[in-house]
Amino acid sequence: MTDTQPSTEPSGSTASLENLLHETRSFPPSPEFAAQANAQPGSYEEARANRPEFWAKQARELVTWKTPFTETLDWSGAPVARWFADGTLNAAYNAVDRHVENGLGDRVALHFEGEPGDTRSITYAELQREVARAANALAALGVTVGDRVVIYLPLLVESVVAMLACARLGAPHSVVFGGFSADALRSRIADAEATLVITADGGYRRGAPSALKPAVDEAIAPREGDSETTVRHVLVVRRTEQEVAWTEGRDVWWHEALEAADTFHEPAWVEAEHPLFILYTSGTTGKPKGILHTTGGYLTQVAYTHKNVFDLKPETDVYWCTADIGWVTGHSYVVYGPLLNGATQVLYEGTPDTPHRGRWWELIEKYKVSILYTAPTAIRTCMKWGEDIPGQFDLSSLRVLGSVGEPINPEAWMWYRRVIGADRTPIVDTWWQTETGGIMISPLPGVTAAKPGSAQVPLPGIAADVVDDEANPVPDGGGGYLVLTEPWPAMLRGIWGDLERYKETYWSRFEGLYFAGDGAKKDEDGDIWLLGRVDDVMNVSGHRLSTTEIESALVSHDIVAEAAVVGANDETTGQAVVAFVILRGEHANRASDAEGAAQVQEELRSHVAKEIGPIAKPRKILVVAELPKTRSGKIMRRLLRDVAENRAVGDATTLADSSVMDLISAGLNAPSAANED
Ligand code: PRX
Repeated sequence: MTDTQPSTEPSGSTASLENLLHETRSFPPSPEFAAQANAQPGSYEEARANRPEFWAKQARELVTWKTPFTETLDWSGAPVARWFADGTLNAAYNAVDRHVENGLGDRVALHFEGEPGDTRSITYAELQREVARAANALAALGVTVGDRVVIYLPLLVESVVAMLACARLGAPHSVVFGGFSADALRSRIADAEATLVITADGGYRRGAPSALKPAVDEAIAPREGDSETTVRHVLVVRRTEQEVAWTEGRDVWWHEALEAADTFHEPAWVEAEHPLFILYTSGTTGKPKGILHTTGGYLTQVAYTHKNVFDLKPETDVYWCTADIGWVTGHSYVVYGPLLNGATQVLYEGTPDTPHRGRWWELIEKYKVSILYTAPTAIRTCMKWGEDIPGQFDLSSLRVLGSVGEPINPEAWMWYRRVIGADRTPIVDTWWQTETGGIMISPLPGVTAAKPGSAQVPLPGIAADVVDDEANPVPDGGGGYLVLTEPWPAMLRGIWGDLERYKETYWSRFEGLYFAGDGAKKDEDGDIWLLGRVDDVMNVSGHRLSTTEIESALVSHDIVAEAAVVGANDETTGQAVVAFVILRGEHANRASDAEGAAQVQEELRSHVAKEIGPIAKPRKILVVAELPKTRSGKIMRRLLRDVAENRAVGDATTLADSSVMDLISAGLNAPSAANED
């Protein structure tokens, strides 16, 4: 059901793209910053000379091995890489224990700040005891090496402990974002055949407790047509003290299990290619993909990138990445990267505007945060709220600012630097994906002269290019598709249980090249500009959503005959979900007046929230009589995007019935159809 011609342009207007590519501002590093920077200009050359050896050096320096590796990269099973395969190690030991052994036990690992204002600072020594206890508690519940554990939690200290406890046992975790629905959780539990779910009674969101455990109960309850759940136990963190339904024998309180557990636990020493985690992400088809990451290569790259891209000085910096652990950014740059590097970081449970719109800046002042890593959508939201809000706080501790998740427009970049960074801090715009595991393209602070809006250059040891339809590299100034041309240590090792889909999704578009799914351009200097997805994946507030998945959710509702979903440009969230639906015959006239249309829209939005989660709710649902299709029956989303973005409809000559667009546009101008949230 996809438009056959992926456009290499972003979904937005090309006029703004032209402006973007004529961006000439450049911000060279200050001599003071460059003099103290971790990153060194010579690394690019060093890595180019012998890429595997460059990574082997990082692996030896940044990771502690139980058994040192002697093999670096084995690409003979391409596209499944093996890095450092004969080495053994443990991820939790690397993240926690070795720092304690090195005399750093008293250093704060996490400054936790709950949304209601409760706080807790936990040192590396305390974290070690908690993780060991949790690992013993999980083992007592029968979890052993190789078992999959689903984690469905708010952002709490316990969430980090839970992930590390799994890693300590060699039991791959699969974190499911707390904003996903019971149905989404159910399919992820089933796909991974998880035996344990770790959850909480609830969490705090926008000043009120919200429940989590009921979704778990629903996700593992017997359902006709489904096979029996693989889950044997549910471990429940008490956070909000809400009443929870309890299944004796199955449900266990986290605090009780930990109290009973010993503080000594011998880590499971696993091979470098042992699975560390599975993280589900939206792809171009309806079913989310379980992206599989393994241990040695992943840890090497996240430690290297965290240290060099953010210029981390663990003795003095206070680092804060605002991502939730439900996303890959939370895995690589809240949990593994910072902890491997012995960083002190802030962990904040809530939203930026609770209880007031200065909460983030207040936290930066309070903890003297020196490195901030966040998403463009958050920056644009703060821009909207006005610069007088951050202006009320002392942000002078900040020295590096990072951006991730979507293209950052130059205006937002400049605002970030001027208002938050006092026109002084380097900004690193970091391009990467769930699949890449770690940062791939980014300026290096202290080395690169930064350009607002461009992620610029592949990191040392990373090989990327922009190619045309025939896989030829485009010349400087040209546009095409972003590809990765050499294996990298943190690359995904496949899609859980579906090797064919892995090959098909990433390696079939261009022979021997990893297809990232992003459009990109090279400017006259050869710097890379990311232009957004070229497939059916949308990016809403830096979160990946699949058009097909939302379409499947919509057509699973009784009244919907057909649905097409597009990501329309949105000033704040990057893209917004807009759905076009055809109602089934007997319901067709339910949307014929404004009230009926509003009702249909609400019903369908709630349905999507139930099927996938509130984050996937379409902003707008337009009831239409027809959808624009090519003669071979493919929906032309490009034309629907034009409609959703209020543009003149583009070339419609390949439509089977060219009058369809007139019909849709006419229908949309009727006030009943276009109800916005
Ligand atoms: O389209 C790119 C966009 O986010 C996609 C990856 O999404 P996800 O796997 O959820 O990971 C997000 C956090 C790493 C990419 O294919 N993206 C991510 N970072 C950037 C970006 N687009 C432009 N610039 C970025 N810095």
